Amino acid sequence: TAPAAVIVAIDGPSGTGKSSTSKAVATQLGLSYLDTGAQYRAITWWMLNNNIDVHDAMEVATAAAKPVIVSGTDPTRPTITVDGEDASGPIRTQEVTSKVSAVSAVPEVRTRITELQRTIAAGAERGIVVEGRDIGTTVLPDADIKIFLTASPEARAARRSGEVKGSDLAATKEALIKRDAADSGRKTSPLAKADDAVEVDTTELTLQQVIECVVTLVGEKQAAK
Ligand code: DC
Repeated sequence: TAPAAVIVAIDGPSGTGKSSTSKAVATQLGLSYLDTGAQYRAITWWMLNNNIDVHDAMEVATAAAKPVIVSGTDPTRPTITVDGEDASGPIRTQEVTSKVSAVSAVPEVRTRITELQRTIAAGAERGIVVEGRDIGTTVLPDADIKIFLTASPEARAARRSGEVKGSDLAATKEALIKRDAADSGRKTSPLAKADDAVEVDTTELTLQQVIECVVTLVGEKQAAK
């Protein structure tokens, strides 16, 4: 018989290696993959394109149901479209990054995106790796395995800085700390470690080591299922 679908939740602040780890783990284990940050970025991008004042929670709440957001779940080529338009590039701009925390703090936005996430996870036949901030606590509290990645602010800023060409390390660190504080401090499903999550501090680890660690943890869970 086919192995039961395994649900893996990977949460943590930005720059801890969530995306690289999640994609590699999903690829190695033949699972689907969902980048939930990309969904919040996509809805933010749509709000900006449609002249919604992202700091007006009422306006954001009213608009939250409008965009059609579709995520591809192949870990080797993740895709995201908004109203049929490819959004993978534009959701990574500085403009979106600086506004996404405000939009994702609005409860109506979270309800809408959480529904999408649960539907995608339920449809993944072999299982799925879902990365985000509130996956283990709110979106998929029954996940088979929950990982919470952390790293020092210095390590996180250095990694992010390395990804964005021509970026300034000090400014990157400041923006990252600000965004994490907003994501951790919001009322509705903030960035948080679930009680039953395994915390992995990646500060001194290579990406390969983090991947191996998570693959091992998932393998143990699968064997026990
Ligand atoms: O992982 P990322 O940097 O692409 O996420 C972008 C933002 O989306 C992040 O600052 C907070 C929000 N987010 C969230 O609120 N909940 C999630 N599950 C994932 C991301």
